[in-house]
Amino acid sequence: MTVVTINQPFWIKQAVFKNRLVKSAMSEAMADKNHLPTDKLCTLYEAWAKGGSGLVITGNVMVDAKALGEPGNVVLDSADHLAEFQTWAEAGTKHNTQLWMQINHPGKQVIKGVAEEAVAPSAVPFEPALQRFFPMCRALEESEILEIIRKFARTAELAKQAGFTGIQIHAAHGYLISQFLSPRHNERTDQWGGPIENRFRFLREIYTAAREKTGPDFPIGVKINSSDFMKAGFSEEESRYVIGELDRLGVDLIEISGGTYERPEMTGKGVRASTAEREAYFLEYAEALKQHADVPLIVTGGFRTLHGMNEALQKHATDFIGLARPLAVYPDYANQLLLGRASDFSIKSIKTGIGFIDSKGILELTWYAQQLHRLGSGGRTKPSFSPLLSLGLTVWKNGKGVLEQRRA
Ligand SMILES: Cc1cc2nc3c(=O)[nH]c(=O)nc-3n(C[C@H](O)[C@H](O)[C@H](O)COP(=O)(O)O)c2cc1C
Repeated sequence: MTVVTINQPFWIKQAVFKNRLVKSAMSEAMADKNHLPTDKLCTLYEAWAKGGSGLVITGNVMVDAKALGEPGNVVLDSADHLAEFQTWAEAGTKHNTQLWMQINHPGKQVIKGVAEEAVAPSAVPFEPALQRFFPMCRALEESEILEIIRKFARTAELAKQAGFTGIQIHAAHGYLISQFLSPRHNERTDQWGGPIENRFRFLREIYTAAREKTGPDFPIGVKINSSDFMKAGFSEEESRYVIGELDRLGVDLIEISGGTYERPEMTGKGVRASTAEREAYFLEYAEALKQHADVPLIVTGGFRTLHGMNEALQKHATDFIGLARPLAVYPDYANQLLLGRASDFSIKSIKTGIGFIDSKGILELTWYAQQLHRLGSGGRTKPSFSPLLSLGLTVWKNGKGVLEQRRA
């Protein structure tokens, strides 16, 4: 039997991935006031390209300037400033790195004050505990749905023109596409709601339109939830159906994650203790999926040891290993893993001891984002950075409202 390890290359169409490690999307919040990529962002991606991953996926880039998810989001919705995106693509593709742009629309997951309004498939509010952070959303008209599909396709086309070697459509984590897929958030009675075949239509149309604009050879991936872990939400069975259809349509790579703002399972919160103890939260789901779907997979969330990564590849539960937080703290971690020199990464809890702050889990995101900003400024990360200092710095720079303005 062939031994598969993280060091082996992989091919998708004409694209060569020099190994099986993927830097998963992390929202950088580093755009300038016009939502364009900055020098800081390019420095960060140069560090990741040097860091050894075969594939680097950008943090979510918004397809519409009127639909931002959080402050500092990059937006790519016109060709007016393609040069800034070309510079970003050049930085991130150094060292034969594949660089894919993750493209997204937040739907109702818009932090209060960031955009004028929030839209969704249906006007379904957040759970009461989250309602004060998000404006109430309104349901999209059909003409608006068609316009958003066109915007996704346009961003895909522009990403290709700028030199990104692929795109990833963000259909996970409770954003707009994920809201369409979920029966809990999508109560529509027209062709966009109801049975899963209809709830899938929005994603299917986005993929088809992006494919038309980018041609048959351009790699297109989709990040999707194994489930959203909510009562009456998007289930594993529905996720399997959607992935099967995407496979049939010709999607090149699926990344498996899980959860939403209301259930942040993507970072391991709320997963069963037995799952949290095992490496990689969604591996069991992926392993079962592999029996039915041929499309290549990335599994992301919780990978921390070289042994765990190689074992997952060896048992064909996944084709790629997705890593986010380890690469925020150690941008060179992929190289160290490939050389067999990396220590196991342990995610320490980012906690201040202040109950109401820690319970939100938002500081964790700002702590990691601060590490990204250190890298973007050309500095080194600070793995020992105190959560309390991180909190102080955040509040000093942005006011206390900022703790309500981060999301994964
Ligand atoms: C600061 C931060 C920002 C994130 N932003 C995004 C994002 O823009 N898009 C996305 O799909 N996932 C995002 N994620 C989730 C990660 O891609 C990944 O799914 C999650 O962190 C689990 O992987 P890990 O255990 O290796 O960190 C973010 C995570 C963090 C920590």
